[in-house]
Amino acid sequence: MALFLDTRFLLRKLKDLRCLTPKRTRVKDKWAATRPKYPPTRLALHYFDTTYKVQLGQLWPSVRVAMLSEKKYGALLNNFSQSDVLLDLQAQGCRDFITTRDAQTYMEQNLEVGTVEESSHVFMTKSDAGDQQLSSPQLSTNIKCLVFPRGDVTRFKPARPDIHGLLGYYLMDAASVLPCLALDVQDGHTVLDLCGAPGGKALTLLQTQSIRFLCVNDISASRRLRLKKVLHSYIPKQFLKGGNLRITSFDGTTWEEIESKSFDRVLVDVPCTTDRHSLMEDDNNIFSKNRVSERRRLPQLQLALLLAGIQAACPGGEIVYSTCTLSQSQNQSVVEQAIYQAREDYSIRLEVADLRPLTQMFRNTFHFAPDLSLGEMVIPHLAANFGPIYMCKLKRLA
Ligand SMILES: C[S@@+](CC[C@H](N)C(=O)[O-])C[C@H]1O[C@@H](n2cnc3c(N)ncnc32)[C@H](O)[C@@H]1O
Repeated sequence: MALFLDTRFLLRKLKDLRCLTPKRTRVKDKWAATRPKYPPTRLALHYFDTTYKVQLGQLWPSVRVAMLSEKKYGALLNNFSQSDVLLDLQAQGCRDFITTRDAQTYMEQNLEVGTVEESSHVFMTKSDAGDQQLSSPQLSTNIKCLVFPRGDVTRFKPARPDIHGLLGYYLMDAASVLPCLALDVQDGHTVLDLCGAPGGKALTLLQTQSIRFLCVNDISASRRLRLKKVLHSYIPKQFLKGGNLRITSFDGTTWEEIESKSFDRVLVDVPCTTDRHSLMEDDNNIFSKNRVSERRRLPQLQLALLLAGIQAACPGGEIVYSTCTLSQSQNQSVVEQAIYQAREDYSIRLEVADLRPLTQMFRNTFHFAPDLSLGEMVIPHLAANFGPIYMCKLKRLA
């Protein structure tokens, strides 16, 4: 009885407080009635608990808690900006994870034992690799991405414009730089970024300053607008107008109708369940009830995009497939099926690159999933809360 009275007293007090709140700033009760009983973030968590518990086993609890915590960013340095932010960021305790000592040491050790070859990556499946020595990737020294040390969750300040209005750095998941490094862009290459908006990876690729021609494609008009805004904030006008960069709006799955066998490098960074976003944001969430069929069709769309990317690459060209999901059915299964269909339907033979040299170089910055049959994956961890990012690299033989 006492508890009941207390509750009634509290409710009356709350009502009094509501009367003190100006009407225009009160939250409408109607909102509560239209709110879904199971918001998309909760549906996503339930789905991940069911599938990733099986897929990741003992790793899932730690990956789960990391994905539900604040993610870490990296600051991609903009070589086109004149603002001198590197020293400033270093003074705050950041370091460039690409040219950092750990990665350098790994390169030096491999040089000493004579395992670094001219080519960038070894092409073989992991099971074929056996005890063979691995070659280290040649990394563009122009890509610099600064991160705070492990366990340090300091946030970056927003980047400031230089005298020409260009921003000094771009904040992104530092693990998103890895597919760009794996793509191994060389001087004079032509590159296709098949699903390129809003442009974090395109901007990373442009930092190499090696690309002869970059085509950034995306089907979504709103995301292309974001891409244009990003490019205008980071790349000088004369470069954007110079003919080395083109933005296109095609459905990437039909790329072979436009051209084939033409690009040295193709990045296929497909739409996916964007696991982190799906757990944290109800807005624009692929787990919302009205997007069930879109979500179920994702592997089919991813496969079509990867096959289109493979056909767009020239013989000898290289393709990187990437996602930001942990899902095996959107990662390894898509790549497996694409290799099979490329051979059966288009007579295209592909080799899978062993990306372990890359993971070994950056093992102090990221946590990688152990023992993946195909490709590599950064898995979120509380001390290094980047990812998930999956990547697999293929070389077109003919
Ligand atoms: C993961 S996002 C790409 C992110 C981008 N690579 C970056 O680094 O900023 C996937 C993109 O694929 C685009 N997309 C979805 N379906 C597509 C299609 N059929 N053809 C081309 N782009 C598509 C989406 O609009 C979305 O922008």
